[in-house]
Amino acid sequence: LGKNGFMKIGIIGAGYVGLVTAACLAEFGFQVTCCDKQQARIDMLNQGKSPIFEPGLELLLNKHADKNLFFTSDIQKLIQHNDVLFIAVGTPSDPDTGAADLSAVFHVAAQISDHLNQDKVVVTKSTVPVGTTRRLKQHFTDALQGKNSPHNIHVVSNPEFLREGSAIEDFMRPDRVIIGTDSDYSKSIMDMIYRPLYLYETPIVWTDFESAELTKYASNAFLATKVAFINEIANLCEKTNGTIDDVAKGLGLDKRIGHKFLHPSPGYGGSCFPKDTLAIAHLATEKNAPLTIVDSVITSNDNRKKNLITRIQGFLGKTPYFDHSATALHGKKAALLGLSFKPNTDDMRESPALYVVPDLLAAGCIVSAFDPEAHETAQQVIEDHPKLSFENSITDCLKDADFLVILTEWNQFRALDLGEIKTMMNNPVICDYRNIFAPNMAKQHGFCMDYVGKPALFSTETAHIEMINKKNIDNGAKPVSAVDG
Ligand SMILES: NC(=O)c1ccc[n+]([C@@H]2O[C@H](COP(=O)([O-])OP(=O)(O)OC[C@H]3O[C@@H](n4cnc5c(N)ncnc54)[C@H](O)[C@@H]3O)[C@@H](O)[C@H]2O)c1
Repeated sequence: LGKNGFMKIGIIGAGYVGLVTAACLAEFGFQVTCCDKQQARIDMLNQGKSPIFEPGLELLLNKHADKNLFFTSDIQKLIQHNDVLFIAVGTPSDPDTGAADLSAVFHVAAQISDHLNQDKVVVTKSTVPVGTTRRLKQHFTDALQGKNSPHNIHVVSNPEFLREGSAIEDFMRPDRVIIGTDSDYSKSIMDMIYRPLYLYETPIVWTDFESAELTKYASNAFLATKVAFINEIANLCEKTNGTIDDVAKGLGLDKRIGHKFLHPSPGYGGSCFPKDTLAIAHLATEKNAPLTIVDSVITSNDNRKKNLITRIQGFLGKTPYFDHSATALHGKKAALLGLSFKPNTDDMRESPALYVVPDLLAAGCIVSAFDPEAHETAQQVIEDHPKLSFENSITDCLKDADFLVILTEWNQFRALDLGEIKTMMNNPVICDYRNIFAPNMAKQHGFCMDYVGKPALFSTETAHIEMINKKNIDNGAKPVSAVDG
């Protein structure tokens, strides 16, 4: 293998997975080159800047840049100068069918067969449906036979499980590595690449292509199910005076269930769960082995994000500051903290904010949004609107706001002082859809607070209670007392 036994690795796709894989394999000691079709990305990388926000990534890229990590937009050179090629391009959902769009993967495959100059190992890191790696193998066999090429391409399926926000740690210390191979040669190469993980006794599951591909989709579908499940249990808590924090704790302490992914939220988003659940459900229907549980998860999560505006309107109408009319939000300033689909990433794909921002604008609100990292990516995907502004500070975002909606639990939001917030806003009203503010603090500062999966709070200030009661009596509902707060 390689020149002088020194393995050179090429990564195709400089996105979240490609860049993290490149930086971490460089850290493992390999010579790595990463390429992307977007010249602007490569230019940024060659200037020492990461085109995406991922904690620790820029540091690691700069540590190895120009030593054993290089960036190029010349895919031909990348293909010809490396022994192992990782495909890490996007596999988005087809908007009509939900199936994974594999055009980028097969475009790269065509480029590999066109420029082949020696034997290669080609590894699919991208999440691809069952059967894709075998199709790639067939593609290469046909292409090389057609050209009477003396070379061989060994394909491998090596799905990635990293999470944005902790991607470096996830790559360097994974729970497991899944590798689907069909030759001793490719197995020995992959063994060499992941050898540094032997130090941590990382389990490596050696399997066939199909099982490796399916493991990735099954994992994401299962995790999405856990999230959708706890969100529906949170709904039930709200209707029955239960407290989701306690229920989730009690559930999670059962080792068969585990405590992870039991946090209620405005719905899952990101680049993986939504598209991977759609893709596995599509494949399952096609293969006549329907995944009805996954179908329900998709519907449940979609509805959750779509219904956020109704939830916000319903809650605001119960506070003393808004009425129930259709025009209640006209001209009101909505402050929005958090745009990315989760903290520690600038990724906006399928974020709940993509639903809430346009819905608030449609309801007549003036929307003022702040996110520590996702302004730029948000501006790329949320349409410009004269009543929408992306603020540079939390203070500008909250100033004179009529209500606040929290969509992402960045740590800096958790550290906010409710007393301070109250002085900035017009009304002490928060839709805390990440449950970051403790109810006792909210009570102490006289906030009306909507939580996920636990009772909403209404201010105990006498004036507010009187206003609530006047409205409740007008609506025929029972009056509240300070105890309800
Ligand atoms: N983001 C995650 O958390 C995550 C985790 C595990 C697996 N995955 C999977 O990994 C794959 C990549 O995801 P991502 O989030 O890194 O995507 P991404 O959109 O961030 O990056 C993909 C990159 O590939 C580049 N690209 C596309 N076609 C190309 C071509 N022909 N030549 C060179 N570059 C090309 C794009 O310009 C882009 O920079 C997907 O299949 C995804 O499902 C993602």
